[in-house]
Amino acid sequence: MRRTLFIHCSPHGEAAHGYRLAREILDQPRRCGDAATVIERDLTAAPLPPLSGDYATALTGDTAADDARFAMSESLIAELEHSDRLLISLPMHNFTVPAAFKLWIDYVVRIHRSFAATEDGKVGLLADRATTILVSSGGFHHGERAFQLDFLSPYVEHVLATIGIHDVAFHYLQGLTFGEAAVSAAVDAARDRLKAAGLLAAGGKCRTPMRPDAIDLHS
Ligand SMILES: Cc1cc2nc3c(=O)[nH]c(=O)nc-3n(C[C@H](O)[C@H](O)[C@H](O)COP(=O)(O)O)c2cc1C
Repeated sequence: MRRTLFIHCSPHGEAAHGYRLAREILDQPRRCGDAATVIERDLTAAPLPPLSGDYATALTGDTAADDARFAMSESLIAELEHSDRLLISLPMHNFTVPAAFKLWIDYVVRIHRSFAATEDGKVGLLADRATTILVSSGGFHHGERAFQLDFLSPYVEHVLATIGIHDVAFHYLQGLTFGEAAVSAAVDAARDRLKAAGLLAAGGKCRTPMRPDAIDLHS
């Protein structure tokens, strides 16, 4: 059975446009009779604690993986290990990831555990998996209306690759502070791209219904 780890962190919580679109993706297998489970990590409702001195010392020292100082890090990495798909909904905050998600990164990217330091650089130790990232933003950073830089996408791509996750696709919801019509246009355009990517059913039709592996994230 497919297991998706769903991470979200908008201050708008369940009202966030990115969150609502992510829910449509998560509901898709159920609507098509596919068996799937979801592990949900809500970094807004349950914010991670700031990094402690103990954690930083353990991280940069020769510390066993089962050391109590790694408890939070271990549980977040376990969520990654117990899933085979990753769905992340990220609002853009000051051109990059929200602080809540940066903390998740700082717990999950751990030397000797999720990556190894080699002569050739950092090598990921976690299994690759199909990963979808929804990025919502008030303004525009891709396309002809772009007026700001996007540090979020290259950064997240690099961080995930560091721990072994390379199969990553970004989908953008842009212009969300430009009024209702702009929001509708952004959501419709994002839905179309998700349909083209096989993440939402086109015309409400399941592609190959009632099969456990019915939805191919890469078609
Ligand atoms: C602290 C903060 C910083 C923001 N920085 C940016 C930014 O750099 N670029 C941008 O286009 N929008 C920025 N926004 C707007 C948010 O990206 C936008 O309101 C949000 O992504 C809406 O998506 P959601 O409904 O999924 O939460 C910022 C919002 C906040 C609260």
